[in-house]
Amino acid sequence: MKINRVMVIGAGQMGSGIAQVCAQAGYEVVLNDLKEEFLERGLNGITKNLSRSVEKGRMAEDEKETVLRRLTKSTDLQDAKEVDIVIEAAVENMEIKTKIFSQLDEIAPKHAILASNTSSLPITEIAAATKRPEKVIGMHFMNPVPVMKLVEIIRGLATTDEVYQAIEDMTKSLSKVPVEVEDFPGFVSNRILMPMINEAIFTLYEGVASKEAIDEVMKLGMNHPMGPLTLADFIGLDTCLYIMETLHEGFGDDKYRPCPLLRKYVKAGWLGRKTGRGFYSYE
Ligand code: CAA
Repeated sequence: MKINRVMVIGAGQMGSGIAQVCAQAGYEVVLNDLKEEFLERGLNGITKNLSRSVEKGRMAEDEKETVLRRLTKSTDLQDAKEVDIVIEAAVENMEIKTKIFSQLDEIAPKHAILASNTSSLPITEIAAATKRPEKVIGMHFMNPVPVMKLVEIIRGLATTDEVYQAIEDMTKSLSKVPVEVEDFPGFVSNRILMPMINEAIFTLYEGVASKEAIDEVMKLGMNHPMGPLTLADFIGLDTCLYIMETLHEGFGDDKYRPCPLLRKYVKAGWLGRKTGRGFYSYE
């Protein structure tokens, strides 16, 4: 299974990061989103990241131009006609993902792998929307993609060993470290991370300590690069809530119950950094 051409769906924080690391590793990348303005925003972010690498002396100017030339924009899923793999990084919503996957199944070449960057939705269910479930797989990158080394690789029920191996090899080619995980709610990363974040929110909700104190304890006491409330703002509080709900529903265990304060913030539209306000203010 030779992978040369990649389509990334979604030019948001995750999708543009994935497109950047693929282009840097030498793949031809088609970056797809619904609107031209989303693509522009994503490509501006990539250009900024690459320029910083040039400034820091990690990349030559002509290499930056070569990487940028490997990226093309697309607002039409039909452009999946000539790719070897699609990595979907659209919004975390099962209805939208299954719609995209069933369309891609019609458009992409027969040999193409269809991967999802979902952070908690079942790969097996996404795969069932296609007639090629053996070629559907989870490829879960971490935010910020250009910095974080991990990619969780999630096998659906039908994923073949050949497809798994191709994704493991591709992950290594991106200078990332693959970790194999079975298809259960939250996989490994979010099954462990999100309850910790949720517990930090409960700690705030119950008045045990201030937000700054909670973050300081975890930063200085456990050597985490960011405190859990700062990290929640960074990930997006809507995403945190969605993942907690997926865990709660998937396992049916009260230990995954989302904190009411998290629900309240999401209802208020305080979603973290992306809206300028979450547990902290970013204006
Ligand atoms: N894109 C590209 N590069 C970035 C970046 C971004 N968005 N943000 C930071 N960087 C780079 C900086 O340019 C800098 O590089 P140089 O050293 O070459 O200058 C480097 O990362 C360090 O950045 P800073 O010095 O500005 O700040 P920092 O040392 O605090 O690091 C951080 C920033 C890497 C984000 C760090 O705080 C961190 O690791 N935080 C935790 C991140 C984390 O836990 N991510 C997982 C989230 S969960 C997830 O993604 C899964 C899910 O499904 C929800």
